[in-house]
Amino acid sequence: MIDQNSIDALFNSARTQNGWVDQPVTDPQLKQIYDLAKMAPTSANAQPARILFLRSQEAKERLRPALSPGNLAKTMAAPVVAIVGYDLNFHERLPQVFPHNPDMKKGFDGDANLAKRQIFAFRNGTLSGAYLIMAIRAIGLGAGPMSGFDNAAVDKEFFPDGTIKSNFLCNIGVGDPSKVMGRLPRLSFDEACKIL
Ligand SMILES: Cc1cc2nc3c(=O)[nH]c(=O)nc-3n(C[C@H](O)[C@H](O)[C@H](O)COP(=O)(O)O)c2cc1C
Repeated sequence: MIDQNSIDALFNSARTQNGWVDQPVTDPQLKQIYDLAKMAPTSANAQPARILFLRSQEAKERLRPALSPGNLAKTMAAPVVAIVGYDLNFHERLPQVFPHNPDMKKGFDGDANLAKRQIFAFRNGTLSGAYLIMAIRAIGLGAGPMSGFDNAAVDKEFFPDGTIKSNFLCNIGVGDPSKVMGRLPRLSFDEACKIL
């Protein structure tokens, strides 16, 4: 088991960040975040998540029109915002990432399997987005995930060929503790779980 400090940093003391101190997020940190998140599991090791890290003012300006009003200021001020997306053509890479079973790709090929790919890519892309949040916390940064934005507008602007779809956004930086909101209640084990 990992030590209590690490557990607290990942779960108990970690908070969703809404403001940032003036400290950059470096390219090596973004790579480190991805290199941790990529090791966590996805179905058939398919890894359908695709991530765009926006750091330049120019890139963030392209995102601005799609942001909901409540997410605008904190996102424009964030050192980096990640667009966590998923690739509907993830199956093209199955021979690379699932090489011992060449038949796996066939089960996803063609337009007839598009709906199946959508479910698969959304499920596993969402998992990888969650792993990304935990990786951000693991390297000592703060994460601010957001679904308050216009997905269609983001897809048109950043993924115009239509094969990658946006899932959620995640601001990344060193969080400003004064901007953290009050902790909201969590469901207890008995409210959310059953042991059969
Ligand atoms: C997928 C996802 C989408 C979210 N969307 C938004 C959002 O659009 N705007 C916002 O202010 N917070 C958003 N949140 C933040 C949640 O409200 C927050 O993580 C939750 O209340 C727990 O807060 P805590 O980590 O500080 O306990 C989102 C969180 C997640 C995981």
